[in-house]
Amino acid sequence: MTKPRVVCVAGARPNFVKIAPIMAALSADRFEVTLVHTGQHYDAKLSQVFFDELEIREPDMFLKVGSGSHASQTADLLEKFEPVLTKIQPHLVLVVGDVNSTVACAMAASKFKLNQSFSWSEEKSRTRPLVAHVEAGLRSGDRAMPEEINRLITDVISDLLLTSESSGTKNLIAEGIEPKKIHFVGNVMIDSLFKAQEKIVKGAFVSSLGLTSQKYGVVTLHRPSNVDEQSAFLDLLQAIDEIAESLELVFPMHPRTQKKISELGFKPRGNWHFIPPAGYLDFVALMKDAKIVLTDSGGIQEETTMLGVRCLTLRTTTERPSTITDGTNKLVGIAPAAIKSAFAKSIKSEVSEKRPKMWDGKAAIRIAATLENLKIQQP
Ligand code: UD1
Repeated sequence: MTKPRVVCVAGARPNFVKIAPIMAALSADRFEVTLVHTGQHYDAKLSQVFFDELEIREPDMFLKVGSGSHASQTADLLEKFEPVLTKIQPHLVLVVGDVNSTVACAMAASKFKLNQSFSWSEEKSRTRPLVAHVEAGLRSGDRAMPEEINRLITDVISDLLLTSESSGTKNLIAEGIEPKKIHFVGNVMIDSLFKAQEKIVKGAFVSSLGLTSQKYGVVTLHRPSNVDEQSAFLDLLQAIDEIAESLELVFPMHPRTQKKISELGFKPRGNWHFIPPAGYLDFVALMKDAKIVLTDSGGIQEETTMLGVRCLTLRTTTERPSTITDGTNKLVGIAPAAIKSAFAKSIKSEVSEKRPKMWDGKAAIRIAATLENLKIQQP
């Protein structure tokens, strides 16, 4: 009997944080695992540093997809992932999150015909790989977000929908996904976060920037909707600049943000530290000691909730509502007046101590158990 062949896909920065605990949990005794790095993110600061710090082994295959428009990047991913399927003949392809690598590899896998059929708990004979989506069911309701399109498509073609919070399960059921395909496993980002907290040297990165715990805030912005349009981005920065007059702010910048900000001619009045993208451990250390975080990221809403740090989300929607109902997040929008007043209010109020269910550091173990229960067999 052969071991189930599993291909794990990771392509962009947030994927690496999610794939790390899954790679660690998929035991080599039970599965033959191939790790594919699509190369969507390729800069060392967005990729290699995450592999090093999260102790992810070298990828078995690197697809060198790189940057491009959505259409060309997705097309390149589809084309480059197919030979991986031909070579490995996987029983299951596991994708995480909502980036272009996620949807493209799920699509290629769901249409791929294997050389040999196999059986699993639900079917006696099957000739296409199963697709498992980790972080399934999250919905912002905003189809102008490329990630929302990626989530919808990935979920509709996945055979196993592994959800991270209760809204994910509810959304999938409301969309007509068969309940037996859905498994609430918890949040793998938090598995990585717990491990990182054990590793960081307390205070080291924060003091290397000349900052003092609780006396600064952190800003991250990279969504096209916030940074791509010059006047909207400038308005946003000017609103945050007023905050920087009363609280020192650190802004680790994603490459696209760095590029856009240099074109703006933004003249800050407040006390800012503009720094390159931080590595994973440094960024966790930075969040942990911050008074407040202002962000448009998805993962940071979750991480601040678990660290018990105030988070203001500078977007009009979130696909992670449990961070609001059971965490420290506030959805503030992007209007300058709303940001300033939310900041003033938040800084004076207590931080919620509620936490979402099953964000306990054991999500990857539950994912591995779910895959074992599939009883994949090939004669
Ligand atoms: C991608 C994800 C987004 C995620 C983000 C995390 C999609 C649709 N978007 O956005 O959901 O929140 O990653 O960072 O998949 N670039 C570099 N170096 C790199 C990679 C990219 O400089 O290693 C620059 C390039 O100019 C590129 C731009 O960033 O054109 C955008 O990269 P891309 O992968 O298309 O999307 P992100 O904005 O990074």
